[in-house]
Amino acid sequence: MIQIMKANESHVEGVSNICIKGYWATYGETHSKEWIERVIREFYNHERILREVTEFNRDWGGYFVAVENGKVVGAAGGGMIDDEIGELFVIYLDPSRRNEGIGTELLNAVTKQQKAEYGATEQWVSVQKGNMKGIPFYQAKGFKFQFEKVTEENPTYIKLRHCRKI
Ligand SMILES: CC(C)(COP(=O)(O)OP(=O)(O)OC[C@H]1O[C@@H](n2cnc3c(N)ncnc32)[C@H](O)[C@@H]1OP(=O)(O)O)[C@@H](O)C(=O)NCCC(=O)NCCS
Repeated sequence: MIQIMKANESHVEGVSNICIKGYWATYGETHSKEWIERVIREFYNHERILREVTEFNRDWGGYFVAVENGKVVGAAGGGMIDDEIGELFVIYLDPSRRNEGIGTELLNAVTKQQKAEYGATEQWVSVQKGNMKGIPFYQAKGFKFQFEKVTEENPTYIKLRHCRKI
């Protein structure tokens, strides 16, 4: 049975593994090895995730994890970006566990937190152009494409900003 819960120190290794595995599975074919390794070093290292599961607030609500037999199979987290506007910052699954409804449960947990604790009425997400493992999921959840965003740091990878009412 899969349980969705707020992540704590005991989940740090599992969250890190899922994000690294998920990032490679999602972007391995479209992004350079150097870019992927840089993102992984910066965002999915032990110290950073330990901080992210122990220090949370309105801007970063902490990670939620999907746990099966003590093993993390999915992770997601978000935060508030304006008075009533939340954002899903990250969501990854064990690549062999897609399309079982786990992503829906993780998104629901983040959404519930943003609505109940922080009064969100709207939710945003960025998805990279061409990420066909992510875009159909967000569309199925009612997110609508708003605009493209190109970051100065890497103009090759375009972000598609989506939002929905919650
Ligand atoms: C995106 C992701 C978290 C979704 O989680 P999931 O557990 O696979 O999704 P679910 O099984 O809960 O599916 C939810 C809905 O999305 C739809 N969906 C999901 N992926 C889809 C796809 N590739 N094509 C069509 N529909 C899809 C399902 O049909 C389902 O629709 P329904 O709720 O109307 O029945 C997961 O697929 C994933 O890890 N993808 C790779 C990583 C990624 O792209 N992360 C996002 C980075 S921005």
